[in-house]
Amino acid sequence: MYNPVNGKPDRMHVGARVLDMHNWIEIDKFYNEDISLKRKLLQERRDRVFVSTPEGDAGSIEVLDELLAYLPNRYPNEWSAPISVDHQLHPLEAASLLVQEDLCLMTQRGQDWVLTAGSICFPSRWDPRDKIGKSLLGIHEPVPHYVEKIGVATQSLFDKMSVDRPMWRVNWTIMDTPDLHQPVPVRRADSINVTKENLPDHLYFRRERQTLRKFPKSGDILFTIRTYTNTLAQAALDFPEFRANLGKTLGGATPEMIDYKGWVSIMNDMQEWSASAL
Ligand code: HEM
Repeated sequence: MYNPVNGKPDRMHVGARVLDMHNWIEIDKFYNEDISLKRKLLQERRDRVFVSTPEGDAGSIEVLDELLAYLPNRYPNEWSAPISVDHQLHPLEAASLLVQEDLCLMTQRGQDWVLTAGSICFPSRWDPRDKIGKSLLGIHEPVPHYVEKIGVATQSLFDKMSVDRPMWRVNWTIMDTPDLHQPVPVRRADSINVTKENLPDHLYFRRERQTLRKFPKSGDILFTIRTYTNTLAQAALDFPEFRANLGKTLGGATPEMIDYKGWVSIMNDMQEWSASAL
């Protein structure tokens, strides 16, 4: 589906494009499975996957209302209107149980955009409890090069967002597990003994399709994160150039980034696997 590994050396960039509103939310054959997992996590580990502050209440209600209008219209076969939701739940939690995406609500506070509510069942090795109430800079504090490479551009993207012009971008990494729920900020990929031979079946190409949409009443911005993951072997089948391009793209990663992404122990093998592509 999404393949941001294009053979250009990895350089951190915002890479945001205008989103056709019709494609705001994506639904695929894993819908029921993903929603069941979310429901389970929200029941059993609510404090770890759901965060909110009163500042995010108005925006959360708006997000839920927009989804209730959008989904039956965009996916008439999957939904026959009206959708019933549990109004006992926080509106962003109710919203998140309708879609496979994780939802992060950002509210403007002075100059800053702050995370005021989030339903994040499928984090890519971060803990939502560390991020609630933080600004874009605070949220990205562990990310090497964020400040010098994209801090200003990301802030400006948020400041300039308009209601009728949603945006989207893709983030990617390589991990040693297909599990969507990765709440612990580990910086390594050594849970299995990866070799050049077994690597294509044991490492996963994890992509996040992220969207940004501003809402008219609250002025809040919803950041959605939809996570897709396949083995490197599958990615090589899906995208003909992926295997050859991977090494070239990885070649641009700085030591700090390699450490942050947890690639230290697998970097050489990934490079060799890529270099031996036909
Ligand atoms: C267009 C806007 C944004 C850009 C360009 C951006 C960019 C990035 C980049 C480059 C990374 C490093 C990880 C990687 O490359 O895989 C990252 C990590 C992250 N981003 Fe963003 N981001 C944006 C918006 C947001 C928003 C709105 C949130 C709100 C929750 C967020 C939450 C995070 C978190 C939690 C991490 C992981 C940080 C950690 O390791 O603790 N990002 N982001």
